Amino acid sequence: MWTLLLALASVLLLIRFLLIFASRTRSNDEPPLDKGLIPWLGYALEFRKDAAKFLSEMKKKHGDIFTVRAAGHYITVLLDPNSYDEILNNSDSLVYSGQKVTEKVFSLDLTSHNRAEEKRWMQQRFHGENLDDLSRSMYKNLQVLLRSAEIVQKMTEWKQDQLFNFCYSLLFKAGYLTLFDKEHNGSSVDLAAIYKEFRTFDGLLAKMARSSLKSGEKQVAFSVRKRLWDLLSQTMQNGSGSSHSWQQDYRQLLEENGMDKEAQRRAMLLQLWVTQCNAGPAAFWLLGFLLTHPEAMRAVRREIDDLLQQGGASQGLPLDKKAETPVFDSVLSETLRLTAAVLISREVKQDTMLELADGRKYRLRRGDRVCLFPYLSPQMDPSIHDEPEVFKFDRFLNADGTKKTDFFQGKSRLKYYTMPWGAGTNICVGRDFAISAIKQFVFMVLTCFDMELSDPDSSMPPSNTIRCGFGMLQPEGDLNIRYKRKALL
Ligand code: HEM
Repeated sequence: MWTLLLALASVLLLIRFLLIFASRTRSNDEPPLDKGLIPWLGYALEFRKDAAKFLSEMKKKHGDIFTVRAAGHYITVLLDPNSYDEILNNSDSLVYSGQKVTEKVFSLDLTSHNRAEEKRWMQQRFHGENLDDLSRSMYKNLQVLLRSAEIVQKMTEWKQDQLFNFCYSLLFKAGYLTLFDKEHNGSSVDLAAIYKEFRTFDGLLAKMARSSLKSGEKQVAFSVRKRLWDLLSQTMQNGSGSSHSWQQDYRQLLEENGMDKEAQRRAMLLQLWVTQCNAGPAAFWLLGFLLTHPEAMRAVRREIDDLLQQGGASQGLPLDKKAETPVFDSVLSETLRLTAAVLISREVKQDTMLELADGRKYRLRRGDRVCLFPYLSPQMDPSIHDEPEVFKFDRFLNADGTKKTDFFQGKSRLKYYTMPWGAGTNICVGRDFAISAIKQFVFMVLTCFDMELSDPDSSMPPSNTIRCGFGMLQPEGDLNIRYKRKALL
């Protein structure tokens, strides 16, 4: 009897709850509202499955600003790059909303953490002389790894591989050595083991963030996360010498801010992911586009040959910061335009009026979220980029071979014509380091190896849609390649 009454009460409560959420209506001054058909859940499933597809359908239906319901949240999506600054610069009413994801994925509470101080520290550590040191160290680590036994050594021997794994493993390992293990001498850490655990964790991360892990996956995700925490604790204890790694200095910052040891090692995994999850996939897409677009490959090779002839690249190509590489830069921008898909999200702390570039005004409600999705616009927007789904290596080059920065939507010149690094207060602090690392890696591969597609007719794999919103997309499948050494590093 009591069980029955309790069940009835719960059902009534649930219905009341659903009615409250279902009853929201649009006021005249608010963006178009689309709640979807399912109470509370709204469009959560569509959003999770393929954010780009879902949001582009919503854009067709409602225009460049609309509010959708997803799992009880109301999310206003703005897709007009001319108006992005209205969101990015309004830090009084709109606040960064990454904490929930940090909690779910890294089991880390950063609410009392001094983000402003950390940001200042990061900016300092990824610029100027510090950046030069990191880039030099990255170069040396890449060199060591490319000379290692794993990589083919004989000039006559072709080795088969898969491009995504080739790029991700080398950039991850070199990045790990550069930032997390300065005193590495080949004995203390098992790089292959850390990489393997990291890839498993990274593979499940989008589902963890969206609370959509299946029960078997949950177990794997939690145990791999624990193993990574343990591995990082070991690294934290290593290296008490005079020369500190980036990781040791970062840990000291956390310590000075009063963070306990347990939280420190969790924060370390967060930083491992933030610093290592994008460069490898970016290098994969870039080399993949070059291998599948011979004209682009020829242009990049010509640029490298010219640099070598001018002697601007004696000790390892791009280390000379003055060496200009407009063709490579355009290829990188084009690659990132097609494959970087970050969702920039803010929480609305108080009701606020949003004025778009064309004068339209909308009210944002307290408690909602507001998101920008630069992947759809400007990056894949046909009104900005001609044939946006096509890779054009010279899209970011002027006719005279210089860097192109003039892009228009109608008559208005765009400030944001591609945004792979995010923007505003959350712009990627590591972007100069990332660019230098990817450039060094690609140039080393192209100068020291002959690399080609195993099947000359293969094309780029599609991207895995579940990663949409989390930075660099990853491929669904891979590209089979073969390579052999043609020069000594
Ligand atoms: C192609 C490579 C990369 C891309 C496309 C990229 C992109 C981004 C984006 C979009 C954000 C903002 C995320 C958000 O607001 O939620 C971000 C943040 C960040 N990135 Fe990168 N990133 C790359 C590589 C790197 C590398 C190699 C490092 C360092 C070694 C790095 C360090 C960081 C850090 C520390 C943040 C956090 C900044 C903050 O807390 O505000 N990134 N990155």
